[in-house]
Amino acid sequence: MLKLGVLASGRGSNFQSIIDAAESGRLGASVEVLVVDNPSAFAIKRAENHNIQHLFINPRDFASKDDFFVKIAAELKGRGVGLVILAGFMRIVRKPLLDAFPMRVMNIHPALLPSFPGLHGQSQTIDYGVKISGCTVHFVDEGMDTGPVIIQAAVPVLPRDTEEKLSARILSLEHKIFPEAIRLFSEGRLEVEGRIVRVKKRSGQNELEPEASLVNPPLGY
Ligand code: GAR
Repeated sequence: MLKLGVLASGRGSNFQSIIDAAESGRLGASVEVLVVDNPSAFAIKRAENHNIQHLFINPRDFASKDDFFVKIAAELKGRGVGLVILAGFMRIVRKPLLDAFPMRVMNIHPALLPSFPGLHGQSQTIDYGVKISGCTVHFVDEGMDTGPVIIQAAVPVLPRDTEEKLSARILSLEHKIFPEAIRLFSEGRLEVEGRIVRVKKRSGQNELEPEASLVNPPLGY
């Protein structure tokens, strides 16, 4: 079974959604190890609750950022990890990890990329005044939130939204699409061609039907 190595920096609610999906058997993958760059990350507690190995790797122990990622790559490779998951990992991943796991590092971002990359995607969204936002799971490349997009989900931005309210609405979708992206990967259904990720259909499955669109404010409001 595919082994996941999860990198996190904080709360770890996405990590939890992946643990839950793995334990339910619908992921086709198991969580092998959690790596944190912050010893007070609540994600550690979640790993302990589920008997998942966890490692704190302190970036300050390394002479360079690259060396930090060399160490992470070695720990993950040594455990047979096949897919690396950035679940609220607040660092730009460097080449040594990407070279060790080519098109095998996935990130979640709380905006519809390529809009609003980087930190505080949700408050950037509100400040800009867009009417639809959401979240994106993508493969990681050397840029900041620039890699090939795997799956996105949209939510309306409401007139009285605060950063907290919008973040909560986006987060509940994050918890759905991240496990979904991992499932598609573990089923061998993601094909990457340049920037484009194609999701292969299962045998006998119908072509994707265009679903109802999200218009905000709604038509006729
Ligand atoms: C999530 O909203 C995730 O999309 C975001 O951090 C939060 C982590 O929450 N990631 C980024 O902004 C990456 N640029 P969590 O620790 O509860 O999963």
